[in-house]
Formats: sequence, C-alpha cells, structure tokens
Amino acid sequence: MPGVVIAESGGGGGGGEDFPAKLTKQVIVCSIIAACGGLMFGYDIGISGGVTSMDDFLIKFFPLVYAKKHHVKENNYCKYDNQYLQLFTSSLYLAAIVASFIASMTCKKFGRKVTIQAASVFFVMGSVLNAAAKDLGMLIAGRICLGVGVGFGNQAVPLFISEIAPTRYRGALNICFQLLITVGILLANFVNYGTSRLHPYGWRISLGGAAVPALILLVGSLLIVETPTSLIERGKKDEGLKILRKIRGVEDVEKEYEMILRATESAAIEKHSYRKLMQRSNRPQLLVTIALQIFQQFTGINVIMFYAPVLFQTIGFGSDASLLSAVVTGGVNVLATFVANLIVDKAGRKSLLIEAAVQMFIAQSVMGGILTTHLKATNSMSNKYAMIVLLLICVFVSGFAWSWGPLGWLIPSEIFPLEVRNAGFFFAVATNMLFTFLIAQAFLTMLCHMQSGIFFFFAAWVLIMFLFAIFLLPETKGIPIDEMTERVWKKHWYWKKYYNSDDIKKEST
Ligand code: BGC
Repeated sequence: MPGVVIAESGGGGGGGEDFPAKLTKQVIVCSIIAACGGLMFGYDIGISGGVTSMDDFLIKFFPLVYAKKHHVKENNYCKYDNQYLQLFTSSLYLAAIVASFIASMTCKKFGRKVTIQAASVFFVMGSVLNAAAKDLGMLIAGRICLGVGVGFGNQAVPLFISEIAPTRYRGALNICFQLLITVGILLANFVNYGTSRLHPYGWRISLGGAAVPALILLVGSLLIVETPTSLIERGKKDEGLKILRKIRGVEDVEKEYEMILRATESAAIEKHSYRKLMQRSNRPQLLVTIALQIFQQFTGINVIMFYAPVLFQTIGFGSDASLLSAVVTGGVNVLATFVANLIVDKAGRKSLLIEAAVQMFIAQSVMGGILTTHLKATNSMSNKYAMIVLLLICVFVSGFAWSWGPLGWLIPSEIFPLEVRNAGFFFAVATNMLFTFLIAQAFLTMLCHMQSGIFFFFAAWVLIMFLFAIFLLPETKGIPIDEMTERVWKKHWYWKKYYNSDDIKKEST
C-alpha cells in the first residue's frame, strides 16, 4: 500500500529519535494476522460459558450439575456450583501461565514468528481434542492444549506487533489485539446461540470451532515476517536490515537499524533479565503492571464473559434469552473497544481509567442492590428487573472495554526499559492468567455463598482501583518509550523514591 513518509521513531524499541517510515502493507497484514492470536484467546473466553449452560454437555460430562439445575427447589445462586465444571473453564489459564514463561524464552531464542506458529499448532490440537472429547479427561487435556496456545500467543503477539509497528501507530495497532479478543468473544457467543439448538452435538461444534481462528493464524503465520529486532538479536543482522527496509517501505533505515543494534547489544549484555527486573529501579513499572492486571480481573469482567449465560439463567432468563443476552453484552464489548481505539491517544490513559471506574462502580452497586431485593434463593425475578440488570451489565462492560481492558495490556507494553521489556511483559501475561484462573475457578462457588453480595465485592475492588488510578498511576500518553523513566517515573510524587541515587549506586555495585 502506498504510504506517506512520516518522521517518527521505529518499532525496534525506540523513543525520542526520528526515523523515516511508511505505514506499509506488510505491517498492516502482519499485524492483522498476528492479532488473530487475540481472536483465538477471545473465542475461548466466550465459548466456555455458553457450552457449560448447554444441557447436552452437562448430561455427558457433569450429570450432577444437570440434575441440580433442573431441581425445582435448588437455590438460584447454587445451580452451577461444581469444582469440576469450574476446572473445565479455568484449566486453560493455569496451563497458559506456564506456557507464557516458556514463550518468553522461545521468543528470545527462536523468534516471535515461530512462537506464534507454535501457539496455533497447540490451538488446533486443543480444539480437535475438545470437539472429539469422550470423557472429562479428554476435555481437560484439550483445554490444557488451548491454554498452551493462549500462553504462547499472548506473550508473542503484542511483542510482535509493537516491534514491527511504526511508533506513531503502535497504540492503535496494539489495541487491535484487544479488539480481536472482543470479536472472538462475540463470535463465540453467536456460535453458542446457534449450536445450542443442535442436539445432542451442538457443544462439539462450539468447541471445535476454535480450530477456525487457529487455522487462520497457522496459515497466516507462514506469510508474516520475523521482526527485525528478533533477527538482529539472534545475530542475523543482514536479514534484519533487509526486513526492516521491506516493512518500513523506505531505503533510508540506517538510523533505526543502528538504534535497534545498540538496543539489542545492551540488552544482550544483560544476560539475566529477570534478575535485572527485580532491581529497585524497575520496581515501579513491575508493581504497576501487576496491579493493573490484578485490578483488571477484579473488576469482575470475566464473570460476565465466562458465565454470562449462566448468570442470565440465574436471574431468571430462559436458555435462549440467556445466550442472546450474552450476544448483546459481547456486541457492546466490541463497540466500546473501538471507542478506546479512537480516544486513547487523545484522552490519555489515566482519565479513561478513572471515568470507567466510576461507571463500573455505579453499575455494580445498583445491580447488587436490585438482586438483593428482587432475587431470593428460590424465586425468579420479574422480566422488568431482569432487563434492568442486563442494561446495567452493558453499562459495566462498556466501561471496562474502553479502559481497564485494553489499557491493562497497553500500559505494561510501554513502560519497561528494553533490557527488561520481555521479562516485564511476562509478568503482565502471567498475572492476567493467574487471576483469570482464580476468578474462573472461584466464581460459581462465590456466587453460591455470597449470592448477590458478589457484586458489592467487585464494586469494592473497583473503588480501590479508582484510588490507584488517581494517586499511583502516572500518565504515559505521548511519552516516547525510552524517555519513560526520566520523564514519568522519576517525576512521580511516589515512585520517584525508587530512584534515590544512593540506592541505585548500591545496587549496581
Ligand atoms: C481481558 C480478558 C477479558 C477480555 C474481555 C481482556 O483484556 O484480559 O480477561 O475477558 O478483556 O474483553
């Protein structure tokens, strides 16, 4: 695609210098293909809730849950409380934690492209195992393969995109990853809505459908280039230079090439990036990364994403209406992520996070209030109130989708210095997977014990996040990556104490 030459810093980790680059066809195509990793991740998030509310699936693998669900006297809030059912959803995330650690090393040793290819192969395997599952063991084995795929994909894709993208487009291209996560969730909701009518094998189509985004990624990954940073890092300097010229669409890439070379050389001196990451001077970025991801999950978003159909059945919707409502919340999620894409570089990160925290707090508190007064253990709620709850869920989801969702990934990808960027981003992925696992594993039990109080529990977390965003999160909008430490962290009223020169001197001796 013809593009305008713009003066800007390139994607190799660079900051304040100007590098000429076009937004080329290669960059666009490669980013879209890589972002299909988000599609796979999203499809999985969205598919399991619908499947676990399908009777055919429950009869085959979880007959006890099926019996409980259809027992008239069963407590509304406890219908689905079953550790194995939760393990079906959560096992994926446990596997993904281990896989993302391995992926942080394969990315470095073998490159981003190979890691993305490995992700898609595991994903295809997992989908086949799940679609053909004969027993619970096979089902969980399939989920574990999918988890390995997600771990590999989530570690490699954002890194890949930010390395090939010209800096000016890095934010928008990065949010494409989140956008495709939300599209994947929505697609899964549609598929579930269709397959729930196909008895008794609809659930097999739902689970097997995960192979489609995986195959797109597998075939697509044969077409993508390796990033220049990764090639140069692994000693393939000439090839790195050739690819850099190709993806930038200009001949004059020497300045950017030199910058990548310098950055990879100094990163190579730092053999122990994880040890370096633990040093005091990297503590602010590390703590903020971990906090952002814990908070992202404690908004309670995945309660909606995983269990929306189950939740809607709990508040009294029929099976069809429940799956349809999940489609509605999925649609709101995609649209609101578009909004994030458009305004994140204008409004800034901080104001989005603060506004959304207020919005989510109100939605959750009102929802908790309505459920407390109108949904007792054994009645069902009137349609009017069920619709208001659906509306409040949309208000909540949209707030998440234009703030804590994308920014939970974007901010960690832009705050670490190059020598610890890979290792630092691993903590974002691993914390995300760990807390996603905890929520997935615990939610149905929490719902059973805390009942509607669960929404106040999440609202309380949102309040803490609100304070965190106001006082502890620095604004990173428009700051070149390599100037972050000087211009952001060393100037922040709280985090600057980590840069006390005596402490730094002590550490480096
Ligand atoms: C989160 C997922 C969540 C999704 C919802 C992502 O940023 O990491 O846990 O399900 O957003 O859109």
